[in-house]
Amino acid sequence: MEGDKWMNLLITGGAGYIGSHTVVRLLESGYDVVIVDNYMNSKPEVIKRIERITEKRIKVYEVDLRDSVALEQVFCENHFDGVIHFAGLKAVGESVDFPLDYYDNNVVGTLVLLKVMEKCQVQNIVFSSSATVYGDKNQSPLVETMPLSTTNPYGTTKWMIEEMIKDVTYANPNWSAVNLRYFNPIGAHPSGMIGEDPNGIPNNLMPYITQVAIGKRDYLSVFGNDYDTIDGTGVRDYIHVMDLAEGHLKAFDYTLKHKGCHVFNLGTGKGHSVLEVIRFFEKATKTQIPYQIEKRRPGDIATCYASVNKAEKDLKWKAKFDMFKMCEDAWRWQSKNPNGFE
Ligand code: NAD
Ligand code: UFG
Repeated sequence: MEGDKWMNLLITGGAGYIGSHTVVRLLESGYDVVIVDNYMNSKPEVIKRIERITEKRIKVYEVDLRDSVALEQVFCENHFDGVIHFAGLKAVGESVDFPLDYYDNNVVGTLVLLKVMEKCQVQNIVFSSSATVYGDKNQSPLVETMPLSTTNPYGTTKWMIEEMIKDVTYANPNWSAVNLRYFNPIGAHPSGMIGEDPNGIPNNLMPYITQVAIGKRDYLSVFGNDYDTIDGTGVRDYIHVMDLAEGHLKAFDYTLKHKGCHVFNLGTGKGHSVLEVIRFFEKATKTQIPYQIEKRRPGDIATCYASVNKAEKDLKWKAKFDMFKMCEDAWRWQSKNPNGFE
């Protein structure tokens, strides 16, 4: 918070995985929030859970960001000190099959949001970008100044949005923006009341592992063991979603003190292989994860982890939770909610 000043933030996509955990941290820290979400990848039950965790009521608008009339109405009915913008589609493979849906939802949605913000004189934004914008040509640790490239339409939407936001801050010096490049968010709120609830078969490693542990899937497919890594399996920078949530509070605070456009990695700076994650999970949860080695997944890279120096120095933010805690919390969420939010 800026001194004792009361702040009200618009959270787009606040019913989603990362948004819901960030909303909890914001409410606990004394911010007021208003959520805009069309529930295309989340459920209204999330809001009830957030309210139970925080013992606070939340104002929610079921609005699609691309509906400029409805979005402007939200801005007219509320005073906002800034926006944290999570709303978007996020499945890499799906974006290859349906690129126009991704450009429409992610790029057009953000365009409408930025226009409404400009019109209503709300000029602080924190945006959910992704480590995917580093492409497949840079060596880890990935540094914010490295050249960007992408390997799929999802990644291209993130890159395009970063550029759009940067141009807005160049054109109007009143704007403050932070683009956060997340690495691999996993884990859940320690209460086990909110967490990641993917539709259908999970694409990502941790939700797949927790579904094997609960008995919904027979075994984990490990995509390749012939990479140039410690044990041949892919290495990623897994970060606890509560650490990520905390990073958003620091990033919003940063927009209050710094004009212009700024970029930060949010990761731990450490890489773990798929086999290491399995071992951590088994130890933390006393479960067994059967797995089979299969061929590489198209588009995957061997290694991806962050340089965290800039976030530590400028945002004064550092991830606190280790892989053991990430596994424990992911498992508590899954075992208490075998069918997610249903
Ligand atoms: P999520 O799908 O759980 O949450 C996104 C939320 O946005 C959902 O509640 C969805 O219903 C809502 N939404 C989508 N399009 C909308 C629209 N047009 N209007 C209103 N609401 C809309 O995803 P998440 O994992 O919480 O990710 C949040 C953001 O972080 C996304 O932009 C994603 O691309 C980005 N990101 C996620 C990861 C990850 O691994 N989870 C990694 C890097 C970046
Ligand atoms: N993996 C498996 N089996 C699975 C799922 C994943 O072996 O069933 C492996 C992958 O090959 C990779 C690692 O586990 O080596 C992590 O894969 P994820 O799908 O969990 O995550 P990615 O690193 O591929 O991608 C994620 C998000 C992207 C985002 C990127 C960087 O899905 O949207 O992190 O932030 F861009």
